[in-house]
Amino acid sequence: MFGKLVNHRVEKNKVYLDFENNKGIVEVINPLVINIFSPLKYQQHYSRAIEELNIENCSIAVENKTSYLEIKTNHLVVKVYDDFKVDFYKIDGTILCEDLREERRPFLRRGTVSVAEDEGHNVEKDFDRHKIEVVKKMFGDEKFYGLGEKTGHLNKRGSYYEMWNTDDPSPHVESHKSLYKSIPFFINLREDSVFGIFFDNTFKSYFDMGKENSEYYYFGADDGNLDYYFIGGECVKDILVNYTELTGKTPLPQMWTLGFHQSRWSYSPESRVREIAKNFREKDIPCDTIHLDIDYMDDFKVFTWDKNRFPDEKKALKELKEDGFKIVTIIDPGVKKEKNYPIYEEGLKNNYFATDKDGVTYVNKVWPGNSVFPDFSDADTRSWWAENQRIMLESGVSGIWNDMNEPASFNGPLPDDVQFKNEGRGTDHREIHNVYGHLMSKATFEGIRKYSGKRPFVITRAAYAGTQKYSTVWTGDNQSFWEHLRMAIPMLLNLSISGISFCGTDVGGFSFDCTSELLSRWVQVGCFTPLFRNHSGSYTRDQEPWAFDEQTLDINRKYIKLRYKLLPYIYDLMWSGENSGLPVMRPLLLHYEKDKEVHEINDEFLFGENILVAPILEQGKTVRTVYLPEGKWIDYWTKEVLEGGTYVIKKAPLDICPIYIKAGSIIPNFPEQNYVGEKEIDQLTLDIYPGDGSYAHFVDDKESYNYRNGEYTLYEFMMNDGKETVINLNIKQNEFKGYETFKIAYNEASVKEVYFNNNKLEFTKQDCSVEFVIPAEKGTIIIR
Ligand code: NOJ
Repeated sequence: MFGKLVNHRVEKNKVYLDFENNKGIVEVINPLVINIFSPLKYQQHYSRAIEELNIENCSIAVENKTSYLEIKTNHLVVKVYDDFKVDFYKIDGTILCEDLREERRPFLRRGTVSVAEDEGHNVEKDFDRHKIEVVKKMFGDEKFYGLGEKTGHLNKRGSYYEMWNTDDPSPHVESHKSLYKSIPFFINLREDSVFGIFFDNTFKSYFDMGKENSEYYYFGADDGNLDYYFIGGECVKDILVNYTELTGKTPLPQMWTLGFHQSRWSYSPESRVREIAKNFREKDIPCDTIHLDIDYMDDFKVFTWDKNRFPDEKKALKELKEDGFKIVTIIDPGVKKEKNYPIYEEGLKNNYFATDKDGVTYVNKVWPGNSVFPDFSDADTRSWWAENQRIMLESGVSGIWNDMNEPASFNGPLPDDVQFKNEGRGTDHREIHNVYGHLMSKATFEGIRKYSGKRPFVITRAAYAGTQKYSTVWTGDNQSFWEHLRMAIPMLLNLSISGISFCGTDVGGFSFDCTSELLSRWVQVGCFTPLFRNHSGSYTRDQEPWAFDEQTLDINRKYIKLRYKLLPYIYDLMWSGENSGLPVMRPLLLHYEKDKEVHEINDEFLFGENILVAPILEQGKTVRTVYLPEGKWIDYWTKEVLEGGTYVIKKAPLDICPIYIKAGSIIPNFPEQNYVGEKEIDQLTLDIYPGDGSYAHFVDDKESYNYRNGEYTLYEFMMNDGKETVINLNIKQNEFKGYETFKIAYNEASVKEVYFNNNKLEFTKQDCSVEFVIPAEKGTIIIR
């Protein structure tokens, strides 16, 4: 396709390449990140994921070798050959990534399609070639992670996926090539190397991770530019950090959004919403948020309220807020086509809707019947949509749930030739489809930010790379199946290492009827997913924490309370993630990649670096093996100290989710609360697990952006565990009201003496720990 490399020219970090048939560019973004580009559609990058491409001023050396062009940075060597074949090496000469020189050689599909189809089987298509295709050699020891929200296992090796945002209500199983989100990023982990690839192309794209032939893997797309980033680094963490430098980090959300959310299709009318709220408080289950699904709207018209069901929504939402409940309302992109409906009329007048190829507003069917689709690819439409958020905010709504934004439609999919303005570069649906939900979320985020001044809470179903900057995500319409509880873990872990830290599944499952046991186990997983929301579909059985028996209620209460206890830890993770790009939920390999044992763990995960969660994911099971990576781990429930690097067997009756804390951890705990902000917290508990370690705890107003101007307090703890345990407490920043005291819960019972700044302290002994209180000020704790 490219032909011989005939010429090149270097301009700063960019090497312009002239091939016989096409042009190419290799651009050094920084010494570890290289962009490979060919202007097959647009002359420049045209990214919806990367808002600011920070190009580092670094030195590169370009040398013309006999058969290739060599481009060197301080860390990488890139060799460019004829046909725009590109190989990447570490600076020490180790090969990292090599383009395949031969043609693809897919395996042979045998049999007769029609016969299989006659019996009702879905027959796989034969192998396609794609307009853009990059085929990489497989060395044999690769493992692949990332690709966002896909079914299947954590390691994507041997799988094939497509990026085409899809709302498919059939049960999500391994044969689903795509779901609601398109995140064309993956990490390639080998025994002694690692790198990532971000293929920034919004057209339908294809990822074969060695399925059609184990000797290579490839990615391709139907159209657009050849535009991918090779992302280097020493370890998986580096790759993720570098990827999120490009596409953005998940920002710190308001703290209440990390509490418990209760949802259902639909809580309506108002009396039902109040009944749900009352139940939470009466049954002593913390809850911050109730979600209103489509039935709060007047005839499914977005930005309206059904006045029969919600006669005075402002009053209702105000009263609910006084009891600590924030209301999140669903908004779909489809705008009802109805004369005199202001949103429709306004959009029509200003050409805010997508059109057919003749310029006539495009119509398809969604909940309200015939509907039109805002053209979110256009900045004016986005500003208008952002303005509309004010309508909901003025009603007292605290967050917006963007649904059906793949976009889903009931009268067949949107045709390829539906037209979008695309910021003045008119294009069709093929290019916008995968970023439609992403751009809707951007508009929603910007509107909420402008009109509330607070950190926006947006949830979206459809997403593209970079959506983490604007929205949290959930994994759409799962089912109340054990299989879907199991799948939630690799799916959320891959989303997390694709940059989307704030994610969750519908706890209990959306479709089908949940059971008491399934909900009991799912709430144990949900407790450790950043978005913790119980949601279920229309006409499914009730699924609230109290919808089953006393035992299920107790288990729900136990884990929701645990979540509220851990809120300061989760908030700290979000705060540090805003700078590092590291997610809250982590596959074990993020911290222990040298240990091959963790590469394929689908049923355990880390919650931050300090907590390992190994839930029960099968019906009837009350015991499981747990792999603990190197180091010492403490069983959260029994306080037993275990040596890692091996498997342990853990008994886990229905109310126990196996949880382990890494030795050397300092975990901040809040006192019990019904909702975030219910109590003024003057004393923070520090749950301490002896060992060497450090921890930073962040305190601010939990909702505004003031922390970005320095209005926060940061406590830093440094723990050294030798003959005695010494914990140094420093206050790094002191610009927000912090705590008066810290209650130390030190998980070791054989303590004889405790000192703070040389003053001997009283302590109380528990079964496996001692407790004492210190002032929240700079100083040194000594425990002997
Ligand atoms: C589809 C969403 O995935 C689901 O969560 C929601 O309840 C329904 N649409 C109805 O709005």
